[in-house]
Amino acid sequence: MKILLRTLLIVPLALAAAQAVAADYTIKFSHVVTPHTPKGQAADLFAKLVDERTNGRVKVEVFPNSQLYNDNKVLEAMRLSGSKTTGIMAAPSLSKFVKFSKTLQTFDLPYLFNDVNDVHKLVDSPLMSRLTTGLDKKGLRALTVWDNGMKVFSIKADKPLKNVPADFNGMKFRIQSSNIAASMIKNLGGTPQKLPFKEVYTALGQGVVDGQENAWSNVYSKKFFEVQDYISVSNHSYLGYLVVVSDEFWSNLPTDIRNTVTAALQEATQANRKYAAAADSGDRQKIESDKYAKVVDMTTAERAAWRKATAPVWAEFRDEIGGELIDDVNKLLGR
Ligand code: LMR
Repeated sequence: MKILLRTLLIVPLALAAAQAVAADYTIKFSHVVTPHTPKGQAADLFAKLVDERTNGRVKVEVFPNSQLYNDNKVLEAMRLSGSKTTGIMAAPSLSKFVKFSKTLQTFDLPYLFNDVNDVHKLVDSPLMSRLTTGLDKKGLRALTVWDNGMKVFSIKADKPLKNVPADFNGMKFRIQSSNIAASMIKNLGGTPQKLPFKEVYTALGQGVVDGQENAWSNVYSKKFFEVQDYISVSNHSYLGYLVVVSDEFWSNLPTDIRNTVTAALQEATQANRKYAAAADSGDRQKIESDKYAKVVDMTTAERAAWRKATAPVWAEFRDEIGGELIDDVNKLLGR
C-alpha cells in the first residue's frame, strides 16, 4: 500500500518536472567539422545562448563531425523537413550552395578578397541580401555568415606548389562541390575532384588525390597536414559558412522566440569572428611547429602569376552570377 501511494505521488511529480523542462522547439544543428573549430565553437555558443535566453523553450542540439548529415545531405533534409517544431539548421560552406544559388558563387571567385576584412565588408553590406536572394523559395532561410578563413593549398609532392601551371600539372586536388573551384584548379593546371569533407583525410592519405585547398583550421583539426608535404600560403579564396535553417520551421516560430534566437545568432557571429581570427594564426603556428608539412610563403610575383592564371574563371562565370552584381561587389571592395 505504502509503495503504491509513493508511486502515485512520485509519478505525477516526475511528469510535471519533465514537462517543465521539455522544450517547445528543437533545433538540430548539423556540421562537419570538430567542436574546436571556429564553426564548432560558434555552434556550441549559439546552443548555450538559446537555452539560457529562451529558458529552455528552445533546445539546440549540435551534431559535429558529419555525425548527422554531410553538407549536401543536410540541405536536402532541411528543404524536405515539414516540421514546425523541430528545425534543421546547418552552416555549410558558401561553396556548397551551388545547386540552390548562382549568385552565392561570387564568394568563390579567386582573389576577390584580400583578407577576411574584405569579406566582412561584403557580408555586412546590403549586397548580402542580393547574394542570398531566392534561397527562401528553395526552402532555405539564410541567417548569417560565419568565418573560417582564407584558404591555402597543400600537396603531397617533392616540391611545394609555386609555379603555375608546372607545379599543378598531373596533380589531382580535392575540392568542395563548387564549379568555380573546379574551373580554378583547371586554370592553375591541375585536375579537380569533388569529395565530401569527411572523405578528404583518407583520400589524401591513400593518394586518391594529391592535394587540397582549405583554411588553416581544417588543415589542422582534420590532420590533413600529417599526410601532406607542403602548404603554400596562397590565400587565394575564402572559406566561410552560410548559416541556414528550414524556411518552413523558421517562418512558423512565434515572433518573440524568433527574435531571441536571432539575437543569440548575432552574438555567436561576433564570437565566431574572434574564434576564426585566433584559429587562423594559432593553427598555422601549430602546423609549423610540428614535423609534418612544411609551410611555404609565396612571393608577390608568384601570387600575381596565380591571379593571372585564374582570371579566366571570372569571365567564365560572369553571366551565370550576374555581371552587374559582380561589378557592385568590386566597387564595394574598392577594386
Ligand atoms: C570543406 O568541405 O572543405 C569545408 O567546407 C568543410 C567545412 O565545413 O569547413
